[in-house]
Amino acid sequence: MAVMKGQALVFVLAMAFAGFTGCVVSYDRPPARKNISILQPKEFSSTSPQQVHISVVGPDKMRISWITQSSAPTVVDYGTSPKAYTNTVTGTSSSYRYLLYESGQIHDTVIGPLNPNTAYYYRCSSDSTREFSFKTPPAQLPIKFAVIGDLGQTEWTSSTLRHIGQLNYDMLLVPGDLAYADMVQQLWDSFGRLVEPLASQRPWMVTQGNHEIEKIPVIHKAPFMAYNARWRMPFEESGSTSNLYYSFNVAGVHVIMLGSYTDFDPISDQFKWLQADLGKIDRGKTPWTIAIVHAPWYNTNCAHQGEPESDLMKKYMEKLLYKARVDIVFAGHVHAYERFTRVYDEKADNCAPTYITIGDGGNREGLANKYMDPKPETSVFREASFGYGELEVVNATDAVWTWHRNDDDVSVASDTVWFRSLSSDPACKL
Ligand SMILES: [Fe+2]
Repeated sequence: MAVMKGQALVFVLAMAFAGFTGCVVSYDRPPARKNISILQPKEFSSTSPQQVHISVVGPDKMRISWITQSSAPTVVDYGTSPKAYTNTVTGTSSSYRYLLYESGQIHDTVIGPLNPNTAYYYRCSSDSTREFSFKTPPAQLPIKFAVIGDLGQTEWTSSTLRHIGQLNYDMLLVPGDLAYADMVQQLWDSFGRLVEPLASQRPWMVTQGNHEIEKIPVIHKAPFMAYNARWRMPFEESGSTSNLYYSFNVAGVHVIMLGSYTDFDPISDQFKWLQADLGKIDRGKTPWTIAIVHAPWYNTNCAHQGEPESDLMKKYMEKLLYKARVDIVFAGHVHAYERFTRVYDEKADNCAPTYITIGDGGNREGLANKYMDPKPETSVFREASFGYGELEVVNATDAVWTWHRNDDDVSVASDTVWFRSLSSDPACKL
């Protein structure tokens, strides 16, 4: 009897402890790796184009963005053969100051119309020592997206980028937290150089995370200054008045980029814009709709619980996405991977979006490896490892999602699932 009482006491204490923490550690993973700093190559002059990246604008144009340390022409020469530039376009440039830091000249030039699924060769600021090339996305399905959140610039980031470089994707989607500059503006330049080999070749479509805010009370009140200057996205084309949220169509997919760190309540511009944007989706043209936020609306990791950017945004906007039959919602912020079932208002629902957290790009803060226990049934797969996602939208009805783990510097396909588009499901008729 005394033994039983002892066991009961141990059990009660264990339960109390479990209730107190509410979390379990998944398993030991390699630790965070240190930041790497990509300096400007010695052979560069002050007018050499650097930090080149591209993003789609409308159905057949591309924005070319780059930086020069001193003043240089904002001109892009391009054509479909190497060194044979048949077109020249002039764009606009800007710069910004952040405390004592002064940015280089940030150039933006929109080129096109371009043919789909076609390789183009280009140079920036008339500099013939650096030729770049990109491939435009296809006009029709299939299309392959790479998805990575919370990238940063560590050796793990390099590992993730190396794997993505072998993927032959059409477009990269980033659910926020890019450079982890965190007010050290030189880190934005370093990040630009780190991603240039990939970001100059395929459109990188991004939304912002908390590490992009870079606001300092009294001293620097304007949020997102570096992000907005360096990563201008095609917001005007979708009727948005802010670079922090926008949408676009590519192949047969409507992509919605939301801003977790700007107003999202029902009287906000973002909310009204989202409502209007969802109302304009033409399922004949885009049978698939995906949305991207930074702070996840569904999350069973112990990290980032109870944050208003997750909970309040979900409270206000979840119904809009559900009613519009959005297929998938990607998020970052939590440094781990998690896939939910189709879920609405905490309950499994066959006509609701699938929620996926993919905040495991490789940043310096490391992995979030504590999970809520017990695991809710709506959480299908969760693992705290570095990695990236691949979404191949095959046709109007089918898509395949694969999460690749690259914990050991080797990419391993670790979670694969086929999706059926909600627009093709008669039971989910709009
Ligand atoms: Fe974040």
